[in-house]
Amino acid sequence: MATIGTMFFVACEDPQSPGVEYMPDMYRSPAIEVYVDYEFPDSSTARKAPENSIPRGYRPYAYPNTNEGYEMAGQQLSNPLMLTEKTIKEGQQLYTSFCAHCHGKKGLGKGSIQNAIYGAVPSYADETPNRRGNRSMSQLSEGHIYHTILFGLNAMGPHSSLIRENDRWKIVAYVQTLQGKDPLSKKEEAPKAETAE
Ligand code: HEC
Repeated sequence: MATIGTMFFVACEDPQSPGVEYMPDMYRSPAIEVYVDYEFPDSSTARKAPENSIPRGYRPYAYPNTNEGYEMAGQQLSNPLMLTEKTIKEGQQLYTSFCAHCHGKKGLGKGSIQNAIYGAVPSYADETPNRRGNRSMSQLSEGHIYHTILFGLNAMGPHSSLIRENDRWKIVAYVQTLQGKDPLSKKEEAPKAETAE
């Protein structure tokens, strides 16, 4: 009886008080609310992630968008996927969605977008040594192709935010077939695919 009396008294003491709260987490979020002043020194509630932190599932890409980065990627990167006929087929589907309108279905550079800016889309099988490092399109390695998908080149925009990591490698394998290569011939050496997106 005394307890009930006290509760009643406490509840009535302050007209603003919500009284006893059953499971206060239901009313008051333990997480920080945006636009509430929690007295951080810079007054910003939207806190920045600690330096050098990376999003879950994201693998940093080691090669910068420079000529040196392109050359290193070209030398060092290889397709992490275990390639099969199915991978190439999926690569073809992705290529059709993301590349064919400029590069053409067969990679000859004659896509449906006919505009002066995209007038010089090269054929993947071209053997003229007029690309970076005096290479021809047919000589581009899988790393060169992957790097180009990420960062683009001149009129070709970057595709890093549009295509996930595994899908980029599927496209690379398909583009190699358009170069006249057989990416499946080296599948035995390829390490098992990593699952990062
Ligand atoms: C908006 C049109 C457009 C789209 C979409 C596009 N490309 Fe390109 N791509 C180009 C143009 C134009 C060039 C030539 C750029 C230059 O040499 O200035 C090029 C060049 C390239 C090269 C040669 C890079 C080098 O090192 O010389 C590769 C490889 C390539 N594209 C692959 C792709 C792949 C794979 C896709 C799809 C994921 C794609 N492109 C989507 C327009 C496009």
